[in-house]
Parts: sequence; C-alpha cells; structure tokens
Amino acid sequence: MFRLSQFVRELLEPGSQRKPGVPPGPVVIWNLIRRCNLLCKHCYSISADTNFKGELNTEEALTVLNDLKQFKVPALILSGGEPLMRPDIHQLGMAAKELGIYTGLSTNGTLINESNIDEIAAAGYDYVGISLDGLRDTHDAFRRKEGAFDDSLHAVKLCLDAGIKVGLRFTITAGNSHELTDLVQLSEDLGVDKFYLSHLNYAGRGNKNRGDDAFHRTTRDAVDMLIEQAIKDHENGFMRDFVTGNNDADGVYLYQWALKNFPDRAEHLREHLIAWGGNQSGRYISNIDNLGNVHPDTFWWEHTLGNVREKPFSEIWSQSDDQLLSEFRMQPRPLKGRCGVCQQRDICGGNTRVRAFQLYKDAWEEDPACYLTDDEIGVDPSMYSERINMEAMG
Ligand SMILES: C[S@@+](CC[C@H](N)C(=O)[O-])C[C@H]1O[C@@H](n2cnc3c(N)ncnc32)[C@H](O)[C@@H]1O
Ligand code: SF4
Repeated sequence: MFRLSQFVRELLEPGSQRKPGVPPGPVVIWNLIRRCNLLCKHCYSISADTNFKGELNTEEALTVLNDLKQFKVPALILSGGEPLMRPDIHQLGMAAKELGIYTGLSTNGTLINESNIDEIAAAGYDYVGISLDGLRDTHDAFRRKEGAFDDSLHAVKLCLDAGIKVGLRFTITAGNSHELTDLVQLSEDLGVDKFYLSHLNYAGRGNKNRGDDAFHRTTRDAVDMLIEQAIKDHENGFMRDFVTGNNDADGVYLYQWALKNFPDRAEHLREHLIAWGGNQSGRYISNIDNLGNVHPDTFWWEHTLGNVREKPFSEIWSQSDDQLLSEFRMQPRPLKGRCGVCQQRDICGGNTRVRAFQLYKDAWEEDPACYLTDDEIGVDPSMYSERINMEAMG
C-alpha cells in the first residue's frame, strides 16, 4: 500500500511526515467468508452467492484473533466475499478491537442500511472501506448488479452520518478509468477523506479478465491526477488521504515527478520512499482465507503456507521454510527481467509478484504492470532483452 498523500506532503513540506518504519508484525487481511451477494468481474476471491463449505467458525476465529494479538499484528482488515454476510462479523470485529488491534471492514456496502447501521457503528471499526468502481452504470456493470451503486452510495452516507470513518475504493481498469476523476470529486462532495486506488491484480476473476487491465498510459494519467489532487488538498488544508495499492511503481513514479517538479527535494523524498520499501507481500502483509489457509498476501491463494486449524498463524508466519516466502523476504528479492535490472527497485521492492507469476509462471519475472519507461528506471533495453533472447536460444 502506497500512502501517496503522505509522500506528497513530505515533498511539499520536508520534515512534516514521519519516515516509514518497521511495523511490529504483519498486517493481516482476513477473508472471513467467500460468499457474496455480488459477482464482480475482477474479484480475486472468485466469490458468488453460495455457501462455501469448511469456513472457520466463530470459536476458531476468536482463537486466531488471540494469536494475532500475541504476534503483535498491528492491523486487521476483515474482508470476504462480503463480510456482512457473516452473522458473527461484528462479534469478531469487536473482539479484535477489544484486543487493541486496528480493525477495518472491507465491504461492497450494498448490505448496509438503516436496520444495521447502529450495529456497525457500535462495533467500533477504525475504518470502513466501501468499493465504488465508477458512476452508476459503470459500477453496476462492473459489479454485475443493477442498483449496486445506489445501495453503496447510500451506505457511504449512512456511515458518515453515524460518525464512522469511511474510505472509497476504486479498482482501475480500461473500462472505468474515464470515471476516476468523477469518483474523486464525488468523494470530496460527500466529505470522505480517504480514497484508495486499487490497481488490477491478476488473481481469480481478475486474472481471467486481465485483458481489461488499464493501459500504462492510463495508469500514468490516473496517478498524475491523484498527485495533483493531493497537492491541491495540501494547499487547501484538506487532510484527505490518497492511497494506492497493487502497483508499487507508483512510488517510483512519484519520485520521477519530484525530479521534474522539485529537483532539489527529490533525493530527500527518495530516502522516505526507500524506507517504505514498496511491496511487502510475505513480509508485512499477510492473508488468511475463509478456510483458514495462510498466504503471502490476498492475491496468492494458489500458494498456501499452512492452515490455522493445524498451527497458529504466528508459527506459520515465523517458522515456515517455504521457498517462495523466504524469497519474498530476501533483500533484495531475486528479481529477473526488467525488474531485475531496474535501478529503482529499492523503492518498489519489485512490485506485484503475482502478475509476473500469472504471466510467466515464475514469481520473479518482471511485473507486466510496471508503467515506467526504461529511462525512468535507468535501464537500457539490451540489459533485459538480451537475457530473454539468450534464454530463447538456449
Ligand atoms: C475481494 S473484495 C471483498 C470486500 C467486498 N466484497 C468488496 O467488494 O469491497 C476487497 C476489495 O478488493 C478489490 N478487488 C477484488 N478483486 C481485485 C483484483 N483482482 N485486483 C484488485 N482489487 C481487487 C475489490 O474491488 C474490493 O475493493
Ligand atoms: S469484489 Fe467484493 S463484492 Fe465483488 S464479488 Fe468479490 S467479494 Fe463480492
């Protein structure tokens, strides 16, 4: 996750933001249920409106929570499927909060209404993230349900009225990028102070439909727009947070932007970006799926490290001899291709490995969604194309 606004603030006012540090434990994204009332085109969890057998029960989930607390997990995101379809969701949310863990709820929002908003507010989530992937028609087509946009928008308003911190989440593809600016404006009009731009990841239906991914040019325009908005917010004293996910090249892109616009401060920014370190899958980002399987992150369901029914999460995460996990934790990671020769990989950490895996069946190949030019990453095409040619010959 890239906290774009924070880095922009540091660029505009050096010394105003703390340098990113090492967290005490991994953030856990927990897909507690796979059932969902929607059937989105890009869904990495391949959710559908049906019961999935073998999910963790309340007691098992509470045992996991205690282990997460002892393992110093700083933040937990309760997700799905649609987490509000799980009857014990708020019991688990409240238990996590009582343990002192920062707890977010990740929801499509369509099931939030007048009858359950008080319960959601009482659970005390630190943050409720609601997905909106476009304006009405685009969102409904993306989420494959007519009326989904209106229901989610209503949910945003109900949460804000109830004093809950809300964030909008927008997954960008070629089919909805033209409405990103409208969504940013909508978030401002609503008074939502967190906007999360999620780049498409190649997992589940998102992998099947990866042909819908945004073009590199489109991604560059989108990030340019967010940088401009973050600057405008800073000038207007509006403390809105723009955060991006699933494309750590955003950090390198911001550095390139700084070189052009604030050359005397670019190296200072770079130090902060290196301290952030880019992609943290398998390091400070982890995932537990609905069946209790532990993965290096939410998009790696094809790679399981263990199951919390057999071993505590803490043990799986700290004592695994899994090869992929140890490679994720290498400094630097064993990157290949264009990523392997990139001069900026200390910022992005090699970006999102699952896309490389889905394309090349090798987790360490280059990330196809890196949208930076060869000049921007300090490489000559012969540095990576030669290797590919030699491999083809051999
Ligand atoms: C799997 S959903 C679960 C929570 C809830 N059902 C929702 O849609 O918000 C969590 C978030 O991941 C996003 N997402 C799903 N598949 C994705 C993919 N392939 N790439 C990037 N983001 C994805 C969704 O848009 C949503 O914001
Ligand atoms: S992205 Fe969320 S709302 Fe859409 S199908 Fe997946 S779990 Fe359901």
